[in-house]
Amino acid sequence: MTKKIFVSMLVIGIVCVLAMPVVNASPKYVGVSKCKMCHKMEKYGNSYGVWENSLHAKAFETLGTEKAKENGKKHGIDDPQKSEKCLKCHVTGYDAPADAKAESYSMEEGVTCEACHGPGSDYKSMKIMKDREAAIANGLIVGDKETCLNCHIPEGNDFYVEFDYEKFYEKIKHEIPEE
Ligand code: HEC
Ligand code: HEC
Ligand code: HEC
Ligand code: HEC
Repeated sequence: MTKKIFVSMLVIGIVCVLAMPVVNASPKYVGVSKCKMCHKMEKYGNSYGVWENSLHAKAFETLGTEKAKENGKKHGIDDPQKSEKCLKCHVTGYDAPADAKAESYSMEEGVTCEACHGPGSDYKSMKIMKDREAAIANGLIVGDKETCLNCHIPEGNDFYVEFDYEKFYEKIKHEIPEE
């Protein structure tokens, strides 16, 4: 191998290594099945069960109803399940780029854990989940009123119900029981 080729290969190598963390930098939405395995356990408060029984789990389905279609018509929308105008609040991470969605992500799951807690690919391992600081450093959002206000605003929502955080949170409350 000539020195020139060796040097250029070395340069390519370094460029690749430098580029890698950039490629892996943005965490991906992994879908609710990846949280279910741990969070359906009673010892962690069965957040999964609470979510499954909430309207958030049906938010995509809702866009397929007659009521939704009628509403869509008023805005010149044929199929609300395909319109950005409706999906942006009725599914998780609608605005996120395609490469921020893992294969296990599905729009049909509606408004999932990750809509409030952030994309989970990098924090969902047991080792990181058990260390709150590490989880937050890897993209976990704890969740508060501001999180809700990404969607619970009147603009674009013809069915808007006055948002009261305390009252609304009570309906979807999921807590880890004290030991
Ligand atoms: C391998 C098991 C496991 C998986 C998978 C998992 N978690 Fe967790 N999660 C835990 C454990 C354990 C805790 C900490 C419980 C405790 O504090 O005792 C936790 C804590 C949390 C917390 C509370 C953080 C805080 O301190 O406020 C949130 C929110 C959370 N998980 C969301 C998720 C979401 C969303 C997913 C899916 C993307 C997920 N978890 C996947 C095991 C898991
Ligand atoms: C990604 C958008 C989004 C986020 C973020 C979001 N919601 Fe929702 N929420 C919806 C949609 C859409 C519905 C209606 C679902 C349906 O009827 O199919 C809904 C419905 C609800 C309902 C049911 C209303 C009822 O009358 O029973 C409650 C309660 C609720 N959300 C609470 C919250 C709280 C509390 C937060 C923040 C912690 C939050 N939501 C964050 C989109 C969101
Ligand atoms: C800004 C976020 C947002 C947008 C945009 C949005 N929705 Fe919703 N939608 C909600 C929320 C939140 C609720 C639950 C009611 C509430 O708390 O305001 C809801 C509830 C609904 C319901 C259930 C109403 C009921 O009382 O049964 C239907 C149907 C619906 N939306 C259809 C649509 C359609 C169709 C579009 C697009 C034209 C759309 N939504 C756009 C946030 C949104
Ligand atoms: C609509 C938004 C929303 C959705 C959907 C949601 N969460 Fe949460 N979650 C919150 C908020 C807000 C809190 C409370 C944060 C606080 O005040 O400590 C919370 C708290 C938690 C906690 C900590 C409870 C405790 O006692 O400390 C865990 C664990 C958790 N969520 C897991 C999940 C999992 C798993 C899912 C999906 C199966 C999910 N959440 C779905 C908003 C949401």
